[in-house]
Amino acid sequence: MTDFSGKKAIVLGGTSGIGLATTEMLRDGGAEVIAGSRRECEIEGVECVQVDVLDRTALSALFEKHNGFDYLVNAATGGPRAIGPFLEMDLQGYQNSFAKLWGYVNSVRLGVPHMTPTGAVVLFSGYPARKWRAGAIAIGSVGGSVEAFIHLSANEIKPVRINGVSPGLIDTPMSPLKGDERKDYYAKGSAEHLIPRAGTAEEVAAAAIFLLENQFVTGTIVDVDGGAIVT
Ligand SMILES: NC(=O)c1ccc[n+]([C@@H]2O[C@H](COP(=O)([O-])OP(=O)(O)OC[C@H]3O[C@@H](n4cnc5c(N)ncnc54)[C@H](OP(=O)(O)O)[C@@H]3O)[C@@H](O)[C@H]2O)c1
Repeated sequence: MTDFSGKKAIVLGGTSGIGLATTEMLRDGGAEVIAGSRRECEIEGVECVQVDVLDRTALSALFEKHNGFDYLVNAATGGPRAIGPFLEMDLQGYQNSFAKLWGYVNSVRLGVPHMTPTGAVVLFSGYPARKWRAGAIAIGSVGGSVEAFIHLSANEIKPVRINGVSPGLIDTPMSPLKGDERKDYYAKGSAEHLIPRAGTAEEVAAAAIFLLENQFVTGTIVDVDGGAIVT
């Protein structure tokens, strides 16, 4: 396990799924971790803060309080996303799906000036960004924007590094389904993938940890998707 002792990490969306798994790995590696999201939370050995990534005033106050921090991870989904055929889609739903991008943009813009020069940022896109299928236009457009933002901002925020992880179909609390319905959803959704199962939050978080730790990687995206985009 990487030794993160002496490092301070802020993990937004760090209270569930992929963000929570990243929070726990950083904590277990010895980092001081602040996990933020809108809910109240209690995570052993972690400072929980209630913050909405769309609230720039609250985000600024958080970053100022932790001035000199090392790692920024943002896994916040931002809010509900629109799914389904574009021509039948509620356009407000499409627009609202971009809350994830604005939350990421807010955190990089407001957070990076408070980071150490050896610091690193990790954001999450998603396989619909480059697996162009019907019904995934809103999340695909948002994911594509997140990836462009990562590539483009890397040039501007250096020496702080920024990278992304593109998760495939991952079994997290993002899906509210239960029991057999949940099993069927993940089995059907991954049936055509090279590795035909849903991934785990820990498998995705491990890529985020690699990107934080490896000092020679910036401006890129790591796919953790069971081969979803190459099918
Ligand atoms: N799971 C998948 O299959 C999958 C696939 C592709 C991409 N991804 C991407 O991976 C990332 C993590 O997803 P996940 O599956 O781990 O989701 P998740 O389990 O639903 O967790 C989302 C986290 O974001 C927080 N959040 C949402 N809106 C927020 C806001 N406005 N302000 C602050 N925090 C907010 C949530 O907490 P609160 O509700 O308390 O705020 C929660 O901690 C997301 O970017 C997602 O789009 C996931």
